[in-house]
Amino acid sequence: MSRYIALVPAAGTGSRMGTEIPKQYGLLAGKPMIHHAIGALCSCSRIERVYVVLSPSDAHWDGYDWSEFGERLYPLKVGGETRALSVMNGLKEIDADSRDWVLVHDAARPCIDHDSLSRLMDEVSGEDVGGLLALPVADTLKREDGRGRVLETVPRSHLWQAQTPQMFRHGMLQDALSKAPKEQTDEAGAVEALGFFPRLVQGSPSNFKVTWPQDREIAELILTSRRC
Ligand code: CTP
Ligand code: MG
Repeated sequence: MSRYIALVPAAGTGSRMGTEIPKQYGLLAGKPMIHHAIGALCSCSRIERVYVVLSPSDAHWDGYDWSEFGERLYPLKVGGETRALSVMNGLKEIDADSRDWVLVHDAARPCIDHDSLSRLMDEVSGEDVGGLLALPVADTLKREDGRGRVLETVPRSHLWQAQTPQMFRHGMLQDALSKAPKEQTDEAGAVEALGFFPRLVQGSPSNFKVTWPQDREIAELILTSRRC
C-alpha cells in the first residue's frame, strides 16, 4: 500500500512580504503562518508524516512549541537557495518508498482546508502520475506590452491557477526535480517536463499563497472565521 507523506517547503525569506522575520513565522490569528499549514496537514489522518524543510540558518522554529503534532512532524534543516532545491533536499531525507505519495505544500498557504485535501487524495490516488490542486481562471486576462498598456486579451478557457498541495510519487518527483529546467517553479512543471500530464483537481480560492503584506489580512479573516 502506498503511504501519504507531506513535505512543506519553508526555507524562504518572504522578500515580497518585506517583514524582518521570514513570512512563514508571521503571526496570523495568534499563530505563526506555518503552524496553520502544518495543522491542516496533521489533521488529515491519512497523512502519515509531515516533513518541514527549514533553512539551515533558521532561527525561529525552535522558539515555538510543536508538541501538539507529536511524532508525525519532522523538521529538516536542509533548505536550499530555491524552492525546488528545498523540496529536492527534503525528498532525499525522508523515509519513503518510491511509490509512496508525497504531498508538497507551501508553508505560505495557511488556509488550506480539509475538503480540498481529501478531494486531492481521493482523485489523484487512482492516477498513474499525480496531480495538484488548482483553480480555473475566473477573470479576463490581459497581456501587457511592457509599458503598462494592454497588448492583447488572452482567452481564459482551459487556464488554471496552480496551487498546492501537489501530489506525486516519491520516485517520480525526485527524478523530475533532478532533471527540471531552472525556471520551473512547481513540482507539476517538473513532471510535465518529463512528458507526463498531471491531473488538475479543483482547489479553493481560500488556499491562496500569502505573498504581499495585504494578503495577511485576508488570510487572518479566513482563519478566524473558521474558529467560530
Ligand atoms: N521556499 C523554500 N525555499 C526557498 C524558497 C521558498 O522552501 N529557497 C518556500 C517558502 O518558504 C514558501 C514556499 O516555498 O513556503 C513558496 O514560496 P514563496 O511564497 O515564494 O515564499 P518566499 O520565497 O519565502 O517569498 P518571496 O518569493 O517573496 O521571497
Ligand atoms: Mg519565492
